[in-house]
Amino acid sequence: MSVDGLINNAGFSRTTGFLATGPADHAAMIRVMLTAPVELSRLVLPGMVARGWGRVLNVASLAGQMPATGGDTLYGPIKSFLIKASQGLWLETQGTGVHVTALCPGYTYTEFHDVNGSRDQVSAAYPKWMWMDADRVARIGWDAVEANRPRVTPGAANNVLAALGGLLPDALALKMVGGHARRLDRL
Ligand SMILES: NC(=O)c1ccc[n+]([C@@H]2O[C@H](COP(=O)([O-])OP(=O)(O)OC[C@H]3O[C@@H](n4cnc5c(N)ncnc54)[C@H](OP(=O)(O)O)[C@@H]3O)[C@@H](O)[C@H]2O)c1
Repeated sequence: MSVDGLINNAGFSRTTGFLATGPADHAAMIRVMLTAPVELSRLVLPGMVARGWGRVLNVASLAGQMPATGGDTLYGPIKSFLIKASQGLWLETQGTGVHVTALCPGYTYTEFHDVNGSRDQVSAAYPKWMWMDADRVARIGWDAVEANRPRVTPGAANNVLAALGGLLPDALALKMVGGHARRLDRL
């Protein structure tokens, strides 16, 4: 069996705080969003490289470009890992015909916030213009992996937030994301 495309998309989050989240849930987050993408990539990439064509799209998050995700403590770091790992693979596969991209969406209309029980909080805290449709986000991800971009963040506002997250000194950046977490009742 040969695999030409891999999209590491499965994911979920827990918003009740690190201490109130059980170890089994933490382990599952790491397994689904970190271990599985690593193992699946290791499984399919050698064949892609040998055939001279392949696409790997890792669905990370804007959260992975932020200094922290308060109350959803492991989610951001796991997504940061996925971004860095994608960049490393992008470097390693240059010139092979294989493209690897990390897609970093901000708020997107899917079932994600129903599953983690935060739909009401996020809908009340953030205006409609901050949200994107899943179809558009998926298209941007697909275009980016076709264009061999190592990372793409859909939407102008999300790019501004990602840039701010990287530029602000720690104290200010943590104030910014701490305020975000408090608005969502996560802290
Ligand atoms: N929605 C957003 O605002 C947003 C923003 C940034 C990044 N993301 C990322 O986008 C990706 C897709 O999420 P989504 O927004 O489309 O949310 P979603 O509608 O809840 O879909 C999540 C997907 O992950 C699968 N999944 C969840 N837990 C799993 C597990 N333990 N084992 C295997 N599969 C599991 C689900 O499968 P089942 O349906 O079978 O459970 C579903 O296909 C995730 O990696 C998420 O972190 C989402």
